[in-house]
Amino acid sequence: MNAFKPHLAAVADYPYSKFDARVKLDQNESPEDFPAELKARAVERIASVSWNRYPELHAEDVRAAIARHEGWPEEGVVVSPGSNLLVLALAEAAASVIDTAPAFPYYKGAAVASGTPYRAVPLGDGFALPTAGLLAALDAAPGVLFVPNPHGPTGRLFDAADLAALGERARARDALLVVDEAYHAFAGTDARPLARGNPNVAVLRTFSKSWCLGGIRAGYLLASPKVAAVARALLPPFCIPAHTGAILLTALESPGYVAPLLARIRAERDRLLAELWKHPEWKPWPSASNFILVRTKDAKAAHAKLLAAGILVRRQDHYPGLEGCVRVSVGTPAENDALLRAAFSS
Ligand SMILES: Cc1ncc(COP(=O)(O)O)c(C=O)c1O
Repeated sequence: MNAFKPHLAAVADYPYSKFDARVKLDQNESPEDFPAELKARAVERIASVSWNRYPELHAEDVRAAIARHEGWPEEGVVVSPGSNLLVLALAEAAASVIDTAPAFPYYKGAAVASGTPYRAVPLGDGFALPTAGLLAALDAAPGVLFVPNPHGPTGRLFDAADLAALGERARARDALLVVDEAYHAFAGTDARPLARGNPNVAVLRTFSKSWCLGGIRAGYLLASPKVAAVARALLPPFCIPAHTGAILLTALESPGYVAPLLARIRAERDRLLAELWKHPEWKPWPSASNFILVRTKDAKAAHAKLLAAGILVRRQDHYPGLEGCVRVSVGTPAENDALLRAAFSS
């Protein structure tokens, strides 16, 4: 189409297929809903705001609450409808996008959508961070380097020293390292100290996982004021709806529900891992996150077998190096029991 930029001919939709299933373990969501008491408070708050008025330009009230919660200067906080939108904004801003292969697919998706040159460095053995290759990529052409830690979709946790080395090289080249901490709460890791001392490092976080708010669509960036200003300028104005803001403010006022949930998820993850290691054919990888990557003989067959038992997991076998793999989100104890029963059934 002549109205569109030529690079958009290569754009593909996000790789997600919808299936209906009783037990949903395909999107690394929290298996528990936002606490009922907080939901009631958020609904009251939504009813009390004026729906005829636009919300704040950059969700300034939510930004201030995030800044307090994270101990981050307010001018360095950017809020967006899902951290995906910040990935897109940063990819649009980027001279080039660099990530690992495999990695969370939207880094590439956002680069392709925005017509930004894209490079990927393959993970090493055991899904190790290819630090040397990423340093070389930053040297070859500075750009925005996305590193999810823990890594999606492998669940692997990277060494702080390697991330610091990448951050230092980003500083030397005036590039940007974005540590995507979508899953950091499950690992107990924190890239803020790295970003605090280095304006060429930013931290991306989301409300979609440990905050039990996947349906709300909200994420945020903690960055230097300069990086934050660029990201903010690339997001549409007034893009955090009033109802989203009300829910986020309620969550940020009462974040105490998160820690017990994390403890439950970690305990279930470790139980699931211990049980899956006993499987005669499947090979799970250790995970620092709320999901487990499992190598099976045939991902299509494993997916179909689980789906027939009412359990939905996500195929990952389209990624190079992940042949036969499926990814299983950690569910409630009952959901995990159902998964194990189906996995071990003949
Ligand atoms: C590594 C990683 N980053 C970012 C996201 C996107 O999160 P959001 O729901 O905030 O758009 C996901 C979602 O699964 C993810 O796995």
